[in-house]
Amino acid sequence: MSDFPEVRLRRFRRNPSLRALVRETRLSLDQFVMPLFVAPESLGNEQLPGMARYSVDDVVREVEELVRLGVQAVILFGIPEEKDEQATGAWDDDGIVQRALRALRPRFPELVLMTDVCLCEYTSHGHCGVIVDGEVHNDQSLELLARTAVSHVEAGADVVAPSDMMDGRVRAIREALDDRSYETTPILAYSAKYASAFYGPFREAADSTPAFGDRRGYQMDPANVREALRETELDIDEGADAIMIKPALPYLDVIRAVRESFDVPVAAYNVSGEYAMVKAAAQQGWLEERAAALESLIAIKRAGADLIVSYWTKDLAQWL
Ligand code: PBG
Repeated sequence: MSDFPEVRLRRFRRNPSLRALVRETRLSLDQFVMPLFVAPESLGNEQLPGMARYSVDDVVREVEELVRLGVQAVILFGIPEEKDEQATGAWDDDGIVQRALRALRPRFPELVLMTDVCLCEYTSHGHCGVIVDGEVHNDQSLELLARTAVSHVEAGADVVAPSDMMDGRVRAIREALDDRSYETTPILAYSAKYASAFYGPFREAADSTPAFGDRRGYQMDPANVREALRETELDIDEGADAIMIKPALPYLDVIRAVRESFDVPVAAYNVSGEYAMVKAAAQQGWLEERAAALESLIAIKRAGADLIVSYWTKDLAQWL
């Protein structure tokens, strides 16, 4: 083993071209997914700057621009007209996400249309499942989740991404899709979704803060990593084609552990709080947004993510 002065690691850092030759991780727009919120009418969004809620007409215009910039995938979230106990807006044929899909599908045949499959934006109480005796009832929620996924695919979704964290949801959704001959539609399971404080701005945007209690009874404890491997293994056994870790930056070790243990594609969700922190600091002049964003995203890839869901996707299309 030779060392200094023979070895000088600075030699390959001397200029941008030398550094590029030995760069281990790269960002490429085709591995990014842009989240979009669709709502009955367009509305700005204070807590997620730059992330408006779009009406169906406006989402078509926004996607037109994204596609022109080179964005290849989006994930849709819906804010319904009305919320109820059964999350009707989630699985209704005429729900907001279903309407957006029907508008987008024929206009953008090449674009990957993903949907978030969950009930929390559609339930009056804001929980991700049906409430029975004051608790989120796992098995009764599965049927509604499966129905939601099927209705998304019927309306034109290419990929469904369940984010509810009910046990058994991947199998329930896989069976429901296969029953209707949608056996070619992949499931991207949010396998390790933590009960995180970093979802705050999203909940404001989606108006989905639980009316009572919190989500710790179904989302994962931030202290656990072995459990994330069990969640991932179960989801793969149930038929998940790819899995997701969420949030991303505070959970880079989880991304790495899952990457090393499984050969499925690994996604990471760079969530609203991660984005909002940088935005807020940049607005104060405390951080440079572009540099901080690129460094965050490269860290998520370096940890082992294949694809990243990020609110910076549109900016990234201009930065890269
Ligand atoms: C649930 C869902 C949430 C997010 C994505 N899907 C919110 C939650 O679990 O409370 C959060 C995304 C973000 O914070 O950017 N449907």
